[in-house]
Amino acid sequence: MSGFPGFPSGFVFGAATASYQIEGAAREDGRGPSIWDTYSHTPGLVVNGDTGDVACDHYHRYPEDVALLRELGVDSYRFSIAWPRIVPEGDGRVNPKGLDFYSRLVDELLEAGIEPAATLYHWDLPQALETPSNSGSAAGGGWRVRETAERFAEYTAVVAEHLGDRVPRWITLNEPWCSAFLGYSIGRHAPGAKEGTPALAAVHHLLVGHGLAVQALRSAGVREVGITLNLDRNLPATDSAADLAAVVRADTQHNLVWTEPILAGRYAATEEETFGELITAADFRRDGDLELISQPLDFLGINYYRPIVVADAPLRETDPGKRVATDNRYQEVPMPDVRKTAMGWAVAPDTFTDLLVALKQQYGDALPPIHITENGSAEHDTVSEDGAVHDTDRVDYLRDHLTALRAAIDAGVDVQGYYVWSLLDNFEWAFGYDKRFGIVRVDYDTQVRTPKDSYHWYRSLIAARHG
Ligand code: FCB
Repeated sequence: MSGFPGFPSGFVFGAATASYQIEGAAREDGRGPSIWDTYSHTPGLVVNGDTGDVACDHYHRYPEDVALLRELGVDSYRFSIAWPRIVPEGDGRVNPKGLDFYSRLVDELLEAGIEPAATLYHWDLPQALETPSNSGSAAGGGWRVRETAERFAEYTAVVAEHLGDRVPRWITLNEPWCSAFLGYSIGRHAPGAKEGTPALAAVHHLLVGHGLAVQALRSAGVREVGITLNLDRNLPATDSAADLAAVVRADTQHNLVWTEPILAGRYAATEEETFGELITAADFRRDGDLELISQPLDFLGINYYRPIVVADAPLRETDPGKRVATDNRYQEVPMPDVRKTAMGWAVAPDTFTDLLVALKQQYGDALPPIHITENGSAEHDTVSEDGAVHDTDRVDYLRDHLTALRAAIDAGVDVQGYYVWSLLDNFEWAFGYDKRFGIVRVDYDTQVRTPKDSYHWYRSLIAARHG
């Protein structure tokens, strides 16, 4: 570790994962199907036809994974809870074996001296809430309907009652932008819908679900409550008026539809110019919703990977007669002259500092302390003859982003934690197992875990901080 700048005392270093991406055991111990089981089992939707059926088999191997975390020396581990393990039919009937699994995981973490940070929704909605089963009483409709937000609050209350005394840090939703727009507008995530107004209804119901979950977590008396957003740094491709206007639309969809209601208790002023009649004709908002959505938070989680270069684009039609609400009159263009990760994502750490500083300028004292709940990179890893993975690009990526984070702290942004994405190589959604984000390699044939150079580097960084 070469001369890495120090972080404030009490700063939390962690690593993150998510249930569907690592657990496997998709049909074990009473787990119900989720929309990601359905999506990944639909031919043609995920690269190589990969599914999360087995993934990293973390459901059975969690003690080994906690041992890797302990050896890494992290202060905290961010994992997510699979709603369909807890409420398999989405209808309120609780599966005790699902609760048991997370209870064992949490105990294992605490015994290792690692603080658990639990995400309640990392995209694996019980399938019965999307399409009702014959036996269940769930209504279906997914996040298009308000009932799903209410079911989410009930599930949250159950989990908080069982784990609230042992899990100090709670995240209601992970990246609701992906749930709403990738899920219901462009169909690149489960449930794979391509719809206009329903995607905006999903935005609102996710926000309402967040608000109701905050209430449930507060009633359970947990220590810290927050939400994780994937806020984007959108840069104009040129300084033409058309591209600048496209940036406003991208900012609205990616950032403001979330931060304005949550942090400022108002809807984004630019929503009409962004969504047009899709939003003006909307009837899913109710009086009192903004108060619910804007309850005070203990922290804001931010996932950050890369900047987006935005250019103007014509309005696209997908299905006949249905306008999409996303990729709506803007398009992403490649950022020139910077390295790209295996995802093709631009590596531009300065934009990380800029995003955080701009957010602080925008919201001032209304901005809660920040935890970076994900940051990391997929690289073209290879196993060397010595069996090691010398992932120099990932080490550079992490070092440069931590340096950029430190610059934001120096500029007055209150950032209290950082979780690397990810502890393990895992099921990268529509990219399947093709993209590797782990600091630990997973051989999917044998389930052997091999810490990469980035793991050793991160370990030294944390150890140096502890003196
Ligand atoms: C984020 C997701 C996470 C992972 C990373 C690479 O959008 O929250 O599950 O897929 O991207």
